[in-house]
Amino acid sequence: MFNLLRPQVSSIIDSNKTPDAKMLAICELLKAEVPHYDWVGFYFKNGDKRELKLGQYAGAPTDHTIIPFGKGICGQVAESNENFVVPDVQAQDNYIACSITVKSEIVIPLFVNGENIGQIDIDSNTPDPFTKADETFLEFVNFEVAKIL
Ligand code: SME
Repeated sequence: MFNLLRPQVSSIIDSNKTPDAKMLAICELLKAEVPHYDWVGFYFKNGDKRELKLGQYAGAPTDHTIIPFGKGICGQVAESNENFVVPDVQAQDNYIACSITVKSEIVIPLFVNGENIGQIDIDSNTPDPFTKADETFLEFVNFEVAKIL
């Protein structure tokens, strides 16, 4: 499945849409095509502030449009610069719940010129669905998105 999605992500990146429209199209593609992706969104560092701001997303609207660095899974990734795979969100102390249906989450940092400037965040209603294949695919997505930022 991910091998089929890669060229579709690249063709969105190469299209003549605006950067925001490209990121929205990628969120919608991933949410529609990957059965265990129930919410897909991008967060970005908010200017010079030590906080993340929600960008484009597909799925239910969330109250968490601003997340301070260090808070929740997203805020931890803003500081660690590392992938964070959460097989069971209920087992996490430092977690910000967006919806009671969410069982698991994966957050992959997005680097531009070596700097962690944001992340892709996926929520799943399936327990423990993420494998190395998700990590590798989402690293590829972020690498592609970095080209348009
Ligand atoms: N669960 C995230 C917050 C963002 S929502 O999933 C959209 C976290 O703990 O950082």
